[in-house]
Amino acid sequence: MKLKTLVFALAAAAIVSGNAFAQAPIVIKFSHVVANDTPKGKAADRFKELAEKATKGRVKVEVYPNSTLYKDKEELEALQLGAVQMLAPSLAKFGPLGVKEFEVFDLPYIFPGKDVLYRVTEGQIGKDLFKKLEPKGITGLAYWDNGFKVMSANKPLRTPADFRGLKMRIQSSKVLDAQFRALGANPQVMAFSEVYQALQTGVVDGTENPPSNLYTQKMHEVQKHVTVSNHGYLGYAVIVNKKFWDGLPADIRTALEGAMKDATKYANAIAQQENDKSLDAVRKSGKTEVYVLNDKEKAEWRKALLPVQTSMAGRIGPDLIQAVNKEAAALGYK
Ligand code: LMR
Repeated sequence: MKLKTLVFALAAAAIVSGNAFAQAPIVIKFSHVVANDTPKGKAADRFKELAEKATKGRVKVEVYPNSTLYKDKEELEALQLGAVQMLAPSLAKFGPLGVKEFEVFDLPYIFPGKDVLYRVTEGQIGKDLFKKLEPKGITGLAYWDNGFKVMSANKPLRTPADFRGLKMRIQSSKVLDAQFRALGANPQVMAFSEVYQALQTGVVDGTENPPSNLYTQKMHEVQKHVTVSNHGYLGYAVIVNKKFWDGLPADIRTALEGAMKDATKYANAIAQQENDKSLDAVRKSGKTEVYVLNDKEKAEWRKALLPVQTSMAGRIGPDLIQAVNKEAAALGYK
C-alpha cells in the first residue's frame, strides 16, 4: 500500500475512533463548605449536570462539598490563585476580601420578604456589587438563595436579654459582629467546618444559620434550643476566577452561562422547601426545642437590632442601604 494511502487510512481510523480530536476536558473545580443535601449543595450538583451536558463533555465539573477541598478562608484565596475555578461563598464572607458592601445582605431585617431580595440580586444592585469583585480577579455569575436564619444555643433565646454574655459563632462579617454586640453577646468568627465541634465542646455557646445548615451539620444534636427568628438573611454569590472565565472559548462560556441560569432557577426554587424540611427534621429529632417568636417578641428583637442598619451605614454605604430600602418600598413594604 502506498505511503500516502496508508497515512490517510490511519488518519481516518483515528477520526472514527475519536482519538484524533479528543481533547482533555476543561476542568472546573467547584469547592464549597456545606453538605450535599442543602440548597447550595444540590444546586452545585445540578450545575455540574447541566454544564457537562450543555458543553457535550468538553467541560468537567468536579464538586468538592463540605470543606473537603478548602475551608472558608482558604477557598477565596484558592480562587484568586486559580487553584479552584468556582465557589459559592456566603455573602457574609466578602468583607475580608475588601468588598464590604456585600455585608448589606447581613443587616438584620433588611429584607422584609424574599421578593425584595430577588429584586436586589436580580437587579442593578446585584450587578453593581458583582462589578466590585472584578478588580479582585473575580467574576460574579449568580446569586443563590438559602433563606432566613434561626438562632440556636443551649438556653432558650426569646428576648434580646437572653443573649447577654453568650459566645456566638459568626461568619466573617463586621455587620454580624455588630448584630451580636447589639444583643450583648460576644461574637466569634469561625470557619463553618469548625462550628459543630466548637458547639459540642463549649468553645462557643450558640450560632445562627438557616435550618438547612443547622440540620445537615447536626448542630441540633449539640444545641438544646432553636429560635425561629428570621432576623437576618443568608445567601450566596456564585463566583469564578476571572482569568479562567475570560480565557474560555466563547461558545463554552455561553453554554456555561445557560447552565448557571438554570441551576440558579433550581437553587432558588428549592431553598424554602429545603429549609422547611430541615426545620421539621430538627423538630422530629426530639433533640432540641424549636421556638417560634410571637409578635411581641419579634417587635422586641427588631427594636434591639434595627439600629445596626444605622451604626453600620458608614461601612456599607448609606446610599446602598437606601437603595435596598427603596426596592422594599417599591413592593409596598413600609
Ligand atoms: C456559614 O459559614 O455559616 C455559612 O456561610 C455556610 C454556608 O456556606 O452556607
